[in-house]
Amino acid sequence: MKIDAANLIITIDGPAGAGKSTVARGVAKALGFSYLDTGAIYRVATLAAQRAGIDLPNERSPKRVFDAVDQCKLKFVYPDEDSPVHVFLDGDDVTAEIRTEAVTQHIRYVADLREVRAISSELQRSIAAKGRFVCEGRDQGTVVFPDAFLKIYLWASPEVRAGRRTQELRERGEKVDTREMLKKIKDRDRLDMSREVGGLKKAHDAVELDTSNMTAQQAIDAIVKLARERLK
Ligand code: C5P
Repeated sequence: MKIDAANLIITIDGPAGAGKSTVARGVAKALGFSYLDTGAIYRVATLAAQRAGIDLPNERSPKRVFDAVDQCKLKFVYPDEDSPVHVFLDGDDVTAEIRTEAVTQHIRYVADLREVRAISSELQRSIAAKGRFVCEGRDQGTVVFPDAFLKIYLWASPEVRAGRRTQELRERGEKVDTREMLKKIKDRDRLDMSREVGGLKKAHDAVELDTSNMTAQQAIDAIVKLARERLK
């Protein structure tokens, strides 16, 4: 395999709650790579459509949704290696808002649109063209970066993932019921996997890592080891 050392990409795909963000940030930090959170792009695109007054579950015109997404001004700021991305929409800091359930429940109406995925993938490629990146999402290894030198499919059982997500939201002060969260996780799996374009699936050449019984640090160490072996 030929590796372009100036533009190295590691992709980490997997279902919601598998620990992708923490693991991707940890891998990026250990290897001195930058980190790209592509879920944040679909989240802020959804909020942009909502703020444009679009009633997403009932909107019949994909063009109206696309236009709202296409016209908004986005800014992503990575404050330091240990923090999640800070996201700005038309100058407003929406970092916390894009993680609320009000946004999460409507992402599918935006992320399912072929045209939105096309501009989003283009944005992702243009960002990652600038250097060495760990790119995290659903379709990074399959669609956006098929030539990545290392592809990881990060997995954990729905029960483990629901538990993690419940704890995360409670720490942020949101009220959550674990059983309700398990249902939401399973629903999101179904939606993510059945998406026609960019649906969640393991790339044929991805390494699968089941983190159900692993700490985030163990997952990070395993991926860093794999990356170093391939870079030798
Ligand atoms: O990773 P995160 O949970 O923040 O992603 C939010 C949603 O955005 C996912 O449930 C998925 O539907 C969508 N997404 C996507 N393609 C990506 C990343 C996220 O469709 N590359």
